[in-house]
Amino acid sequence: MHGPFDGMTGLVTGASDGLGRSLARALAARGMTVAVAARRADRLAALAAEIDGLGGPTAIPVAVDLTEPGAAAALAQQAIERCGRVDVLVNNAGVLVSETMRDGDCQAARALFEVNYWSPVALTAALAPQMGQGGMVVNISSVAQHVPFPCYVFYGASKAGLSATTEAARHEFSADGVSVVHVLLGQVGTAMYIQARAGASPGARLVTRLGAPSPDRAAEVIANGMVRRKRRIVYPVSAQFARRWPALTARGVDAAQAVARRVVRPTEVSCANPPARHSAAR
Ligand SMILES: NC(=O)c1ccc[n+]([C@@H]2O[C@H](COP(=O)([O-])OP(=O)(O)OC[C@H]3O[C@@H](n4cnc5c(N)ncnc54)[C@H](OP(=O)(O)O)[C@@H]3O)[C@@H](O)[C@H]2O)c1
Repeated sequence: MHGPFDGMTGLVTGASDGLGRSLARALAARGMTVAVAARRADRLAALAAEIDGLGGPTAIPVAVDLTEPGAAAALAQQAIERCGRVDVLVNNAGVLVSETMRDGDCQAARALFEVNYWSPVALTAALAPQMGQGGMVVNISSVAQHVPFPCYVFYGASKAGLSATTEAARHEFSADGVSVVHVLLGQVGTAMYIQARAGASPGARLVTRLGAPSPDRAAEVIANGMVRRKRRIVYPVSAQFARRWPALTARGVDAAQAVARRVVRPTEVSCANPPARHSAAR
């Protein structure tokens, strides 16, 4: 089996589910040996066995909780020790919480920033300098930063921060020969998308009715963009609209919220309580 990433080693975070799992498969199919990281070790082991069974490059499962202080730096160290080196880092792990500003300085929102923002920063700081010529950092961000529904307030803020950091990181690491790929996603049909719909305000629920492509399809688009070392990958078409016309998108959100206010009680316009995810089964 010959692929564009033959002989390269990558680390994919958030690989136990959704887009990360699909991306790990897509990169392995293109020749990359992948270290796959997340909390649910059983799912990582199953994914690694599946990739190993294809007879191409191997997969290395690494269990980690990125909300814990120092976990990202320790993950980077483990990935280097177990793989020899890391040529490609895919910062994909992400969480969504539906708390609003009224919930104040909530613990869940701080944990969200650990996973969505600070972990990508710590992993990039630890791994990009050892990559050398041909290295690649891929950050999975979101156009939710342009879609200001109240229940996405902290999520959107974390992704806005990640996007700004990604664009600046490209200039910081270009002298080392390391490419930085900025992925801006709209809706993709994963557990997070289902959670976003369940916990959304009625206005946001109107928007999420547009539907979502599969994570396998999104992973193919991203992996092909990585092969071409594209600077930015915006997917699907609805995300391209939000990215290109953020002011128009914000007006659409105003309109959706206004419609929602008319048809439901104002107290319900904020967020529903989403079901708890990944509870004791971990
Ligand atoms: N789906 C969408 O519509 C959409 C849109 C825009 C952007 N995105 C972004 O795409 C990326 C992938 O999301 P997805 O839709 O595939 O979500 P998902 O299906 O919910 O998967 C999230 C992944 O992150 C991992 N993760 C969560 N908390 C973690 C923690 N504390 N430590 C380590 N790993 C953790 C999860 O694994 P464990 O639970 O096993 O830890 C899981 O593998 C995220 O960055 C997300 O923000 C998604």
